[in-house]
Amino acid sequence: MEIIICANETRVGEIGAAKVAQLAARVGPKVVLGVATGSSPLATYQELAKLVAAGELDLSAASAFALDEYVGLPLTHPESYHATIARTVTVPLGLDPARVHVPDGDPTHLDTAGARYEAAITQAGGVDVQILGVGANGHIGFNEPTSSLRSRTRIKTLAPRTITDNARFFDSAAAVPRHCITQGIGTIMDARAIVLVATGETKAAAMAAIIEGPITSMWPGSALQLHPHATCVIDEAAASGLKLKNYYQQVYANLPDWQRLDV
Ligand code: GLP
Repeated sequence: MEIIICANETRVGEIGAAKVAQLAARVGPKVVLGVATGSSPLATYQELAKLVAAGELDLSAASAFALDEYVGLPLTHPESYHATIARTVTVPLGLDPARVHVPDGDPTHLDTAGARYEAAITQAGGVDVQILGVGANGHIGFNEPTSSLRSRTRIKTLAPRTITDNARFFDSAAAVPRHCITQGIGTIMDARAIVLVATGETKAAAMAAIIEGPITSMWPGSALQLHPHATCVIDEAAASGLKLKNYYQQVYANLPDWQRLDV
């Protein structure tokens, strides 16, 4: 796993975006992006939007697949992931809405929603660059602790910690949907490259478990240790639980110039 420790959240956004842009440029204009919701990747999206506005990155022919969606929220609800992705990704990054996909959380279609989403990803040729956040409990997408490490897109029940954490987006914890549809850990691991961004002290335990802990479904993100091309871009606070933090910084500082982004 490549670990890039940045001074602060702003730098995480800049380096996260630079990394995604570099990987996307290698693929070409028809790159397939995997996109996450949550607060963590917002700075990265804002920096990517700047690159697009400056003409340094063109995503007009790209496709995107979101990780997850709540079950039962109307698509027009501002906190539905359909609406969130449209607002934070599709519009600012200049993506064609027709090529931006979000899992179908309509309760009347749930039996086929997972397989349909998997088929759509396969039809697009798979995800080239997956942008990931992480939950305080180590979840990726909505794969809560004890999710199968080989799971595919399916319905999940939100963990109590996730309901509490996401209550800030709703009027109260009671208003947070209890169920979601999420790409599985196996689905996420099929992406050809993964860039995980995390900031703040609340993510320190999860990042320590993901980077240095054993691979375990108790910390779903720890599956990334098996990925051949995963990068974690984190700030000092999110890195504060790492035992080998100095080593990662040393490794990064000694990379050849062509491999290194300026942290
Ligand atoms: C959310 C999303 C995840 C996200 C995570 C962390 O519930 N389903 O994709 O990575 O929880 O959110 P945040 O970045 O706001 O801390």
